Amino acid sequence: MRPLIAGNWKMNGLAADLAEIAALSAWARREPFAGDLLICLPATLLSRAVAAAGQIAIGGQDCHPQAGGAFTGDVAAEMLADAGASAVIVGHSERRLAHAEGDDLIAAKARAAHRAGLLAIICVGESLAERKAGDALGVVAAQVAASVPSGSTAARTAIAYEPVWAIGTGLTPTIEQIEEAHVALREALVLALGEAGAGAPILYGGSVKPANAAEILKVREVGGALVGGASLKAEDFLAIVRAAD
Ligand code: PGA
Repeated sequence: MRPLIAGNWKMNGLAADLAEIAALSAWARREPFAGDLLICLPATLLSRAVAAAGQIAIGGQDCHPQAGGAFTGDVAAEMLADAGASAVIVGHSERRLAHAEGDDLIAAKARAAHRAGLLAIICVGESLAERKAGDALGVVAAQVAASVPSGSTAARTAIAYEPVWAIGTGLTPTIEQIEEAHVALREALVLALGEAGAGAPILYGGSVKPANAAEILKVREVGGALVGGASLKAEDFLAIVRAAD
């Protein structure tokens, strides 16, 4: 399976930062990578980023379930596609927590992404309390069962396993914990989608950096990475991409 290395800029990025996208694009022209590269940006930057991105794919970070209407401040999946995005993150834990998004809404957003022809990167992950209680695998399997729409195809669906306690904290699970979670997620995906569930990539996310990427990307059922902080600078992101090669 081709690895997918995706960046998530979160609420960061002004026009001047498009230089990082241009640098990634220049690198990708010089050193072809046997995988897929994606940067998920604030909606304000999408169309300008697409112009600078070359073969780097550009994605959004959230979408509304509806294609249009009276939803002030929201962005439809069709709008992301129209701006040149080919993917969108849904159900990131920062949205699950800060915007009280539940699995039903996330499934509706993933369906919207599919309707618009986008890859839906559906995030799941346990809290520290859930991990300490021994519930991590059950929690993420239940999130997959409830937030991955039935009928999703492998080509348009990726899961990102992001333990909430590992995001932006510098903490990462052990290699054994990552493997155990990814194997459980694969089972849950196959249960939800049948054959399509065997083909959809499962990315790991949470404090991925140049120093730990090679080790994490070798783990069974890890099909790539979703990278937050270390995706903001082309140099760091490229060091992670090289580790995947
Ligand atoms: P991080 O974020 O790499 O900064 O931990 C990952 C994410 O939130 O997707």
